[in-house]
This record gives sequence, C-alpha cells and structure tokens, in this order.
Amino acid sequence: MSSLSADVLFRPFGVKSLHLKNRIVMAPMTRYFAPNGVPSEANAAYYRRRAEGDVGLILSEGTVVDRPASRNDPGIPFYHGEAALAGWKQVIDAVHGAGGRMGPQLWHVGSVASAMTKWVPDVPVESPSGLAAPDKLRGQAMTEEAIADTVAAFASAAAAAKRLGFDTIEIHGAHGYLIDQFFWSGTNKRTDRYGGATIKERSRFAAEVIAAIRSAVGPDFPIILRVSQWKQQDYRARLAETPALMTDWLQPLVEAGVDVLHCSQRRFWEAEFPEVDGETGLNFAGWAKKLTGAATISVGSVGLSGDFMAAFGGEGSTPAGLERLIERMERDEFDLIAVGRALISDAQWTKKIRADDRRNLKNFDVAALAELV
Ligand SMILES: Cc1cc2nc3c(=O)[nH]c(=O)nc-3n(C[C@H](O)[C@H](O)[C@H](O)COP(=O)(O)O)c2cc1C
Repeated sequence: MSSLSADVLFRPFGVKSLHLKNRIVMAPMTRYFAPNGVPSEANAAYYRRRAEGDVGLILSEGTVVDRPASRNDPGIPFYHGEAALAGWKQVIDAVHGAGGRMGPQLWHVGSVASAMTKWVPDVPVESPSGLAAPDKLRGQAMTEEAIADTVAAFASAAAAAKRLGFDTIEIHGAHGYLIDQFFWSGTNKRTDRYGGATIKERSRFAAEVIAAIRSAVGPDFPIILRVSQWKQQDYRARLAETPALMTDWLQPLVEAGVDVLHCSQRRFWEAEFPEVDGETGLNFAGWAKKLTGAATISVGSVGLSGDFMAAFGGEGSTPAGLERLIERMERDEFDLIAVGRALISDAQWTKKIRADDRRNLKNFDVAALAELV
C-alpha cells in the first residue's frame, strides 16, 4: 500500500450541514462503560482521542432512547435525561475541541438480550411480536400506543443531539434490534399496518421514526440509518434477496428523510448479489448507493484479518492491507468507510494509514474491550 493510493480515503466529504475532512468513520461500538447510563469524562476522553487521531466522523456506541426497556445492559448510556445529556455535551465539546465531527447512534434493543451479561430490565421487553428470534418468545408485542411513544422517543433524542451540538445522528436499524425486528419477517408477525408480507410494509415503523426525526431536526441536519441484511439471531438472514427487493426496502426510507445509509457487513469485500455482477461485484453499500442514490457508508474487517463476530469468540486479528478498500473507493462504489476494532486497538490508526506507517499498526485482541483507552 503506498501513501499515494491511500489518498482516496483522505478526500473531504460533505452532506448537508456535515463537512468531513476524510472518509474514515469510527463504527458505533458498545463499550458498557457508562455507569448508571451516564457518560463521564472517561468516555469524553476516549472519543476525543479518536478525534485527535484524525477520524473524519465518529459514531458513538449505541445510546438508548427514552423507553422503559430500551437497553439490555446497565453500562449502556442513555440518550435522555438531564445527567446523561450533560455527559454527552461533555463528549461533543471534547470531540469538537480536537477538530472532530460526531453523531450519537440512537438505539432501542427491542427484545434482544445482551450476549455479555444476564441483566434484564425491571419492565417487560418490547418488540413487534413478542419474539426475540423466529422461534423464541420473549416479552411483549408492542401496542400502537407503545409504537407511537417509541417513535416520539427517537425524535426527541435526535432533537437533543442537535441541541447539544452534535453534527449528525445515526439510527440503529440493524443487527436484529428493535427496528430490524420490524423489518424481519422472522420477528414481525403483526397483522396491523406495521406488519405484512412485504418488506415495504414491514418498513413502516422505520419510516415513521425517520420522518419524526426529520421533522424534529429540520431539513439541513444529516440523518444516517444503519441497516444490515444479517441478524445476530441468524447470520444468513436476508431482508432483500434481489436488487428489486433492496429498492423496496431502502427507497422509502430515503424518501422519509435518510441522507446516508450505513450498510453493515462483516466483510466489506463480499459481493452483495454475486449472481448479478459476480464474486467481485458491488458490496451492500455499493448496491444501496446505486439503487437509491443516497450516500453510503461501508464497513467490515477493514485493516484486520478476521471478522468481528469471530473476535467475540476470542479470535485475535492481525493487520491486513487496504488494497481492496482503496480499489472500491477509487471507483466511488460507496462514500465513506467505517472502521471498528482497529480504532479500539489504536486511536492513531487513521494517522498511521495516512503516513503509510504499516509497521506500527496494531493487532486487535478481545482483551482490548476490558478497558476504555
Ligand atoms: C465491541 C463492539 C461493539 C459493537 N457495538 C455496536 C453497536 O453498539 N452498534 C452497532 O451498530 N454495531 C456495533 N458493533 C459492530 C461495529 O459497528 C462494526 O460494524 C463491526 O465491528 C465490524 O467492523 P470491524 O470489522 O472494523 O470491527 C460493535 C462491534 C464491536 C467489536
């Protein structure tokens, strides 16, 4: 990898009021370091270090909206209430002080239990149909009133983000959590207007969340939506088996107000529809951009040898070259690239890539999750 070729990652990028100095995004990563749901100086310092390390856009760990059972671990930060929002204000001021840009990832876990702890909230968990997975009953199916309150909770969290000075927000619509539980036929069995046989019908909840956020933040504030085909409940699950179905899924969400689609894959180089354009064809973010015209973020094992679910199983990863990423970015297949574990191991990763300092890139070891540095 020459520093010249990596230059493609260091072009500026803008969408609406958001202006980024490069194309590198810190992926949202839950760290369980917010006791009582309140981010502290330690969280602010952690994000500030990534801003000092020249990350273009930082997405926060998932931070939950104001619903009684929106989180599944007590170390997950709230994005509501005076104390938590004061903590987040400290975070964005620290990031801005270091020249960074940042958005919170707004989250509701639905009926998914934490893989890390046995903790459960003291009120029943909620989801579209009281299912955590296709064959697993857990908690309550949401009433229309619960749905309306949840939509409002997302909108008020987004309004708070704008008020605090954050540069964007990301809605967590991926990985089998609440919004994705509505998308997925395996967990959405509703017979009212939030369910249905088609992905378009099952996207209504997400579209309402997006529209409510758009009206809360105004026309110029960028909205990012994270989506995935895969679910933590089933890695092989797919919401859209064809490009036409992907259009049915994503186009209405863009029309509802999404500016940037963050297309989660475990390995960014994998073709989304190899039967259409071959094994080296467009990835998920590539197809999403082509089909909707929205800007897209790709992600998945950038700079590392193994994927992140393997990492949770204890597998370490060593640094890997960026050639395949650079090739795809040179073709403008997608606009931005998110980097997860490499930025946990090393806040200076972006600077090292820019300087072609390959010898000092670090391995990722799951032990790195034990502290917030
Ligand atoms: C410790 C850890 C926590 C994560 N937490 C979240 C999260 O809160 N929200 C989310 O959308 N993805 C989460 N992810 C997935 C990452 O955002 C990212 O998509 C994934 O790690 C793949 O990128 P990587 O291969 O560069 O690590 C998490 C990943 C890790 C390793």
